[in-house]
Amino acid sequence: MTPGDADALGSDGHVAYTASTATMRKLRILERYLDGYATVMGNFNLDWYALDLFAGSGRNRSADGSEIDGSSVLALRAPAFRNGRPAKRVVSIERHRDRFAALQARTEEFGPRALPILGTHESKLVAALAQIPRTSPSFALIDPEGFDAPWTTLRELAEHRISRRGLKMELLILFPSKSVVRVMAPEHRELVNAVYGSDEWQALIEQAARPIHAAEQLDIFGAVQEVSTKGEARLSPEAAADAFVRIYAQRICDVLRYKHVKPIAVKKAGSPATTYHLVFATDNDAGRNIMNWVAQKAPTEIHGRPDSDWTLDEL
Ligand SMILES: C[S@@+](CC[C@H](N)C(=O)[O-])C[C@H]1O[C@@H](n2cnc3c(N)ncnc32)[C@H](O)[C@@H]1O
Repeated sequence: MTPGDADALGSDGHVAYTASTATMRKLRILERYLDGYATVMGNFNLDWYALDLFAGSGRNRSADGSEIDGSSVLALRAPAFRNGRPAKRVVSIERHRDRFAALQARTEEFGPRALPILGTHESKLVAALAQIPRTSPSFALIDPEGFDAPWTTLRELAEHRISRRGLKMELLILFPSKSVVRVMAPEHRELVNAVYGSDEWQALIEQAARPIHAAEQLDIFGAVQEVSTKGEARLSPEAAADAFVRIYAQRICDVLRYKHVKPIAVKKAGSPATTYHLVFATDNDAGRNIMNWVAQKAPTEIHGRPDSDWTLDEL
């Protein structure tokens, strides 16, 4: 099998997605969160389900040759603790044929608990959701490579669960902050509208970027502004990324009606720029507490070694 551009061969002979250390950090957060989540499910004796919409190949390989399980495999392996309850089913969607074949091979050992589906999440979402009982706790990972996760998908996920307490499917979304500056260009407006499910973001971003008068407070987003040599104010790339993710998180709160929405900025240590944000949405206080713990206190080792290269900031 020939690996595609973004792929290498894993040590097991199957295609492995090429991952940066930033990806390793994201997967560590996912793994830690699901350990906590599965433990709570075990305590309450509840079956739970996971949905991985951009599933990848089941394994990632970094430039130094080290390998780490991909998101679907991590979800199938959770929890690390004995009293936790493994997911009843993990439904994974992947559109790339070779990655899908690798994912299938790597999830075979989990039997019917693993359900990989070949195709795009747009075309397979209904089939995937049909595998997740509406009354059960569920968690979705939305991990696109760029600005590729449409709002309509988030809405379908948010509407899936029917719970007497009004709890919705939990969402963990990778927000590609590094691409924000590129997609601010006018030709990308439609793309960003599709991700935000509205064009309201445009006015909010203009508001965040308006010139600051000397005595004026920081704007509503707390964005730090740069003044160009022409005397115009514009958002710095870091402030733009923060403003974009805040608007996104606010919409998840206001429109999709999630009780807790938490953006976490993942940065290279010492750098002001955010590589990506993870946006976590839950209605459950326990979910909120677990993610707070993961963001603040979880050990930051990767492959058993301390990982001081990355920092997690809460917005
Ligand atoms: C960032 S990678 C996912 C990595 C994976 N979540 C992990 O951490 O192991 C994104 C994956 O989504 C796939 N993909 C891109 N667009 C998709 C779509 N519309 N539907 C399903 N899969 C898609 C890509 O082929 C790629 O394998």
